[in-house]
Amino acid sequence: MPRSSHRSKRPRLSAANADKYVLYQEAVQSADLDTAFLARVYRQARGREAWHFREDFCGTGLLSSHWIARSPRHTAEGFDLDPEPVRWGLEHNFRLDPGQMPKRIGNRFTAGRYTVHLQDVRADSSKARSPKPDLRVAQNFSYWVFKRRNEMLEYFQVARASLAAGGLFVIDLYGGPEAQEERTERRRLSGFNYVWDQHRYWPGTGDYQAHIHFEFRDGTKLSRAFSYDWRLWHLGELEDLLYDAGFARVDRYFEGSDASGRGGNGIFRAGTRGDNCASWLAYLVALR
Ligand SMILES: C[S@@+](CC[C@H](N)C(=O)[O-])C[C@H]1O[C@@H](n2cnc3c(N)ncnc32)[C@H](O)[C@@H]1O
Repeated sequence: MPRSSHRSKRPRLSAANADKYVLYQEAVQSADLDTAFLARVYRQARGREAWHFREDFCGTGLLSSHWIARSPRHTAEGFDLDPEPVRWGLEHNFRLDPGQMPKRIGNRFTAGRYTVHLQDVRADSSKARSPKPDLRVAQNFSYWVFKRRNEMLEYFQVARASLAAGGLFVIDLYGGPEAQEERTERRRLSGFNYVWDQHRYWPGTGDYQAHIHFEFRDGTKLSRAFSYDWRLWHLGELEDLLYDAGFARVDRYFEGSDASGRGGNGIFRAGTRGDNCASWLAYLVALR
């Protein structure tokens, strides 16, 4: 999950005082870059602006919070099963004060131009009052939680059916020989190390277990702050499934390389073949 981060001044971090969602957002997400990319891809495909955004597996809803900040007309909704990151996100990313926070979120909660649903991403949202999404996204590979072909196909079919006219469904993915290795990658950030631990990969099934750990300068750790039980999907498999689900066109966008040639530069461009590097990041953009 190699994403960029920003630096901020803060008290000395340790396992005792760190907030795992703050660290996750800093280490893993690049919401400004991502929302700018998504808006551009829609504009290029459709020649107009996307307004309503749907973030599947939204967790803290960071992307949605950046989306609605684009203009007073932008709206967003998120879907996630876990109330903990959803509540955290309402408080920290949408600045809801504790008095406004409901005791239970129920299966839908609206905060201004953001509505969050505590529901499976495959739930039928046709009865929801929100508009249909111009852009529906599944970021940070979260949809790899669907391990069987029929589950992934069902998800893609439901996603396609939910879109507004001209809507786009966008998923990210990574690959390359390093993606299949049982290895850890450590990155030094402001006050902590982010450790991406590709713990298990079974080539026979594609089963892929990964963890995120955070390490602090005082020697303390948050081990397995986040854990994932996924299948490592290949680009061609996913693209075939998107076409099987009825999408009319699927475009590939690959990340460019930085000056050293060893890392990504955060800039994604449309391409066909991709570079055969040790690890790469890409988006698949599916047009209804
Ligand atoms: C890796 S986090 C994603 C956080 C954030 N969206 C991001 O881009 O980094 C995965 C999230 O998916 C949620 N999740 C897993 N299965 C789900 C499902 N079937 N429907 C909705 N949410 C699900 C989990 O609760 C978790 O918050």
